[in-house]
Amino acid sequence: MVSKHNKPLTIAIDGFSSCGKSTLAKQIAKELGYIFVDSGAMYRAVTLYFLEHSIKIEDPVEVQDALEHIEIRFENQDGINTTFLNGKNVEAEIRSLAVSSLVSEVAALPAVRKKLVALQRLMKGREGLVMDGRDIGTVVFPDADVKIFITADPIVRAQRRYNELLAKKQNADLHEVISNLAHRDKIDTERKDSPLRQADDAWLLDNTHLTISEQFDAVLGKISEIIGK
Ligand code: DC
Repeated sequence: MVSKHNKPLTIAIDGFSSCGKSTLAKQIAKELGYIFVDSGAMYRAVTLYFLEHSIKIEDPVEVQDALEHIEIRFENQDGINTTFLNGKNVEAEIRSLAVSSLVSEVAALPAVRKKLVALQRLMKGREGLVMDGRDIGTVVFPDADVKIFITADPIVRAQRRYNELLAKKQNADLHEVISNLAHRDKIDTERKDSPLRQADDAWLLDNTHLTISEQFDAVLGKISEIIGK
């Protein structure tokens, strides 16, 4: 799918944690033959590095020095987008509760955001791109062709996340998942640098009562409508 001017589209998908943003972004990218980037995975990879190296996040010098030793890239392995941190596949580790519990604090650090936003902007090449995150439509690509902001009931989000962890055979406690999500929502929306918010020109989608395929159809329809204008 291209815009009226034959230019492949940049599609920004933002929203709260565990709203199914990556699932949707992956589906849309596959359907359109676009590149998919899960920007949250990049914040998670930085967090994993900080945990592994006991970086004190309140020490700006330590943080800056650590950032200079971090290289993140994505590789497509058997059709699955896989995150590499300094050459190592960390896809499973970055989804652990230890990383989830610290990632919002790490993502609130301006030095971290500066590095990752620059990397994210470099990922936009000549091909179409679907990127999901918290600040894609507001900060990373304010000129994105399509902006979607996803939300859902917090308890439904926690239940989905809990089921996902169980399916991956990871330890999970529903109450812990509920409080982790509430904690992340609070930090993500209240931080000073690039807080989570809906861009003025984003389309709001509440997927509480939608199946994955209903959501996909609704978003594809919306994309056609937006670029057909
Ligand atoms: O999408 P996710 O849950 O994997 O994101 C992990 C954390 O990273 C989330 O708590 C907020 C942060 N994040 C961010 O600040 N900006 C982004 N573009 C993506 C994620």
